[in-house]
Amino acid sequence: MRKLIVAGNWKMNTSVAEGVELAKKVSAYAVEKNLPEGKQIVIAPPFTHLASVAQVIDSNKVILAAQDCAATKNGAYTGEVSASMLKGIGVKAVILGHSERRQYFKENSEILLKKIKLALEEGLDVIFCVGETKDQREAGANLYFNVIKAQLVDTVFTLSEQDFAKIIIAYEPVWAIGTGLTATPEQAQEIHEFIRKEVANNYSQKVADDTTILYGGSCKSSNAKEIFAKKDVDGGLIGGAALKADEFGKIIDAR
Ligand code: 13P
Repeated sequence: MRKLIVAGNWKMNTSVAEGVELAKKVSAYAVEKNLPEGKQIVIAPPFTHLASVAQVIDSNKVILAAQDCAATKNGAYTGEVSASMLKGIGVKAVILGHSERRQYFKENSEILLKKIKLALEEGLDVIFCVGETKDQREAGANLYFNVIKAQLVDTVFTLSEQDFAKIIIAYEPVWAIGTGLTATPEQAQEIHEFIRKEVANNYSQKVADDTTILYGGSCKSSNAKEIFAKKDVDGGLIGGAALKADEFGKIIDAR
């Protein structure tokens, strides 16, 4: 079902103690607001925080997500954390395909599809990120539409309709992440509409109507309302502005 989601990607920020405090505040906010069914709050702390955060949030009100998972099930993969390990500590979702993972850790569609499948096997929801770089944006609409389409075709569009129902798509233009350069509401809507159309072409209009598509990239309380008001924008994936409970709360209220 199409949902309204405000998700916080904490990236590599906060100590465990700070993260636990932040999670408590977000959870208290969600409880106080008594959000309607279909409106969800997600937080994605670093791996080291997940078990402690799981203990302090109301899991009916806040969905705990990880920022990554391994592309293999288990075994001799030093440093990796598997989807089943995450599930075991109360994680319900995982962010995959973030541009920082693609850029700094060379994650390509082949690796990402393995991760997606393992996460789904464990029953985790997947927030799958797509988006074009600054150069690709400047090269014109033909190119950036194709870039985004390829990111989908090579990964989530290979899934069965049943599995695809567990995918939340996040459009995060790379040029807008952490730069203060937000996409205009019109730029976001253009891509979200394109993504929804591609979902309809690949599956059906019904699947497209049910797909949740989030916007991410310098989204904050001062611009969230305008962006979230667009018809194909179903909420946001928030980086820096998710690290302050008050600011994150205002973004939750914007949708
Ligand atoms: P910022 O909101 O800090 O630009 O980060 C967006 C993001 O990458 C969320 O995943």
